[in-house]
Amino acid sequence: MTDRSSRITRAIWQITQELRDADALDDAISASLEIIIDTLDSEAGSIWLLDREANRLHPIFNRGPVDISGITIENGQGVAGEVTMSGEAQLNPDIEKDEHFNPGVDEESGFRTKSLICVPLKGPDGIIGCVEILNRRDGGLYDQEDLTLCETMASLAAVAMADKGFFFKPTADKEILISLRNVTKDYPSGDSVLHVLRGINLDIYKNEFLVVLGESGCGKSTMVNIIAGMDNLTGGELIINGKDFSHPSDKELTRYRRDYLGFVFQSYNLMPNLTAQENVQFIAEIAPDPMPAEEAIAKVGLTDRADNYPSALSGGQQQRVAIARAVVKRPQIIFADEPTAALDYQTSVEVLSVFEEIKKDIGTTIMMITHNPEIAKMADRVIRLRDGKVSTIKINLHPLSAAELKW
Ligand SMILES: Nc1ncnc2c1ncn2[C@@H]1O[C@H](COP(=O)(O)OP(=O)(O)O)[C@@H](O)[C@H]1O
Ligand SMILES: [Mg+2]
Repeated sequence: MTDRSSRITRAIWQITQELRDADALDDAISASLEIIIDTLDSEAGSIWLLDREANRLHPIFNRGPVDISGITIENGQGVAGEVTMSGEAQLNPDIEKDEHFNPGVDEESGFRTKSLICVPLKGPDGIIGCVEILNRRDGGLYDQEDLTLCETMASLAAVAMADKGFFFKPTADKEILISLRNVTKDYPSGDSVLHVLRGINLDIYKNEFLVVLGESGCGKSTMVNIIAGMDNLTGGELIINGKDFSHPSDKELTRYRRDYLGFVFQSYNLMPNLTAQENVQFIAEIAPDPMPAEEAIAKVGLTDRADNYPSALSGGQQQRVAIARAVVKRPQIIFADEPTAALDYQTSVEVLSVFEEIKKDIGTTIMMITHNPEIAKMADRVIRLRDGKVSTIKINLHPLSAAELKW
């Protein structure tokens, strides 16, 4: 066997394992696509599922430089739509030479499609979507053998979906709260420059639970600090509620931080000489439209500990005070940077349940950084950063509740 065909055989083996062992099928299918992208050394790839009622395709998983999770396409339109409509795979090895194709360039990321494969996902009851991969990294063009690998994966995935009674129901359209466009962040480092964020493109929606994953040092905190107005960006644009916020004045920044957002860190940062309730009250007093401090304390389940000083509270309870302090402002968005990193399993689940309730209760967006991939299972969307860029975005079709998480 050639090197390449043994790689492909191994990929099919891995995909079979993923799909067989999966407890969350959407995870397994995303993982399978990642295996293909890596095996065929591709720049991007996505999984589209068909909403039969609306006859539209939704991207539930994307790896690549653009956040496509907000778009949908009509069945029959574009390559993905044609493939899903017809059930015929497409191999467009050289798009420059393909008259049928008008790839254009994605303006935000500069991404240009050069070579693509798109295969249908065929279930026993018909076509349920498609899988697309774009651009070999080495600049080469896809061929028949690559197409066969994709078709094999797609048929394995479709069988697994049918076996597990999988069906797709899209969530309602979401309103954008915050957008990042090609956001970069450089730090001077001796004589050179450290490029920490290298072009982040991301939309954040109202009332979604977003989890950010990625290796230590990949830029998660830097990105969140920029969105939260605690750090400035080097290049690109930050857009908040439709307004450019890339270079805010001090006054705008203060108002944004005070009125619009809450922040929860790994360390609780409570004032030791104030009780739980006074810690929350203190923030309520400077917010324009707060809820009563007692209500925020009640939301995090600490009513009977409201008069305790932080030193008399456990770590989990202190973190809940910190969440109450973020919530009391009724913020549009709460950022949480590794909020459970210092807590044991049971306490983490309690704290995560509080976030879950708050999202439901007051319609807040939550953007949480974590090291723990299990926590990602409760997200509406999971963003994975790698080397200062968004590597993948996955929509969880069946988010778990905090109580269902296990580690
Ligand atoms: N203020 C700073 N000055 C210089 N380098 C920084 C600064 N803040 C972060 N970095 C560097 O940026 C990179 C990303 O850091 P960070 O965003 O904290 O990563 P993560 O949260 O993903 O672990 C790291 O290499 C870190 O050393
Ligand atoms: Mg960090």
